[in-house]
Amino acid sequence: RRYDPHRPPARVFALITRDAKNLNQELKPKPEEEKWKLALLQRLTAIANEVFGQAEVKPFGSTGNGLALANADMDVCVFLNMPKGSQEVSPVEFVERLGDRLERDNEFQNILQLKRARVPIVKLNHVNGIACDIGYQNDLAIWNTHLLWTYCRIDERMREMVVVIKTWAKRRKINNPYMGSLSSYAYVLLVIHVLQRCEVLPNLQSIVPGNGKIPYWDCQEFNRYFFDDLSNLSQYWKPTPESLKQSVGELLYEFFRYFASEFRYITHVVSIRCGRLLTKEAKEWTKEQQQHQRHQQEQQQQEHQQQEHQQQQEQQQEHFDHPETSPSESTQPEGQTPMDTKPTVRNRYLFCIEDPFELDHNVGRPVDRNSLFTIRGEFMRAAKLLSKNGDGAISRLCQERE
Ligand code: CTP
Ligand code: MG
Repeated sequence: RRYDPHRPPARVFALITRDAKNLNQELKPKPEEEKWKLALLQRLTAIANEVFGQAEVKPFGSTGNGLALANADMDVCVFLNMPKGSQEVSPVEFVERLGDRLERDNEFQNILQLKRARVPIVKLNHVNGIACDIGYQNDLAIWNTHLLWTYCRIDERMREMVVVIKTWAKRRKINNPYMGSLSSYAYVLLVIHVLQRCEVLPNLQSIVPGNGKIPYWDCQEFNRYFFDDLSNLSQYWKPTPESLKQSVGELLYEFFRYFASEFRYITHVVSIRCGRLLTKEAKEWTKEQQQHQRHQQEQQQQEHQQQEHQQQQEQQQEHFDHPETSPSESTQPEGQTPMDTKPTVRNRYLFCIEDPFELDHNVGRPVDRNSLFTIRGEFMRAAKLLSKNGDGAISRLCQERE
């Protein structure tokens, strides 16, 4: 481990751990919430059957991966088992037909048909208060949910960390991919990355019983293989004695410290599939950004330099140095990307987080120049807070940002 002059003493970590565990208790979903979600799942299954014939509705995201906070949204995915020879239903048609049917029921409110999103969905609120996203035939989402669920089962510190980090990201308003920040899914991948580095978690996609060759299990043309036979995991991987001693408080500090001052945003890609960092160059995650830059950069640059200068002055009072950002990395921020419009840039590679299965998908894609600055500022604020004084640090960490 690198020398860290800001690393707090053990008593600080003990206090952070205590408060992190309390927050976990507080934010556990109530049993009745789970009952309502199950009832909604059944209701949606009945409606999808009515509209399309044979339909199955599966939960995914935090509803299926064990990482839900109280009052979390519900993500579900509809799978149609169309009779042979019948016409396929396109994602757009699916969204239209289901959305129109749901409109006729006053049980559902604020129905939105997002037909042109990367993954088309119907969004709604149920009268019982549950917000729900309904997707279509997304097997990869089911499998990545199962992967996250499996990691969660290996070590309970993962869930404890995720609960704190999700709460922090929501309260600090950096958990909205439609506005340029990261999805919860992205934060969970970052947590797994840090826990793999600390040898708290293995790399499940590289554990292969038998001949050692990673099998190819096709899912929408990607390999969805990972080792999920947890009862036999200890034959292939064991946490180190040192990693077993790390408290949640220590691991949380490590998470924020790493993304505040060690991770190289300019060159590196987080990959839980490989269990280590990759480079942008190796993944060829540089080109589109450069192309795009030529079009937009000039007119925007001046404006951003001013903005950045101002932000930098504020940041200079911080205790943690902001890692340098090369000017060549800058790209045009889009500000707010309306939810149902196509972004003008297909891919951005400022914060690179490889999806564990869909290898050409940068889960950090929504992040633009400005939001990256904000997110990094939040990592620094968090690391600084946790390094100072454990008492009350978690509640200060999760203080609502205006
Ligand atoms: N997902 C994905 N690719 C993304 C974002 C999300 O495949 N770029 C899928 C994943 O299956 C993920 C699910 O969508 O598990 C839900 O994502 P998200 O809502 O970000 O995570 P949750 O765990 O549901 O968090 P929250 O409780 O905050 O909704
Ligand atoms: Mg969700």
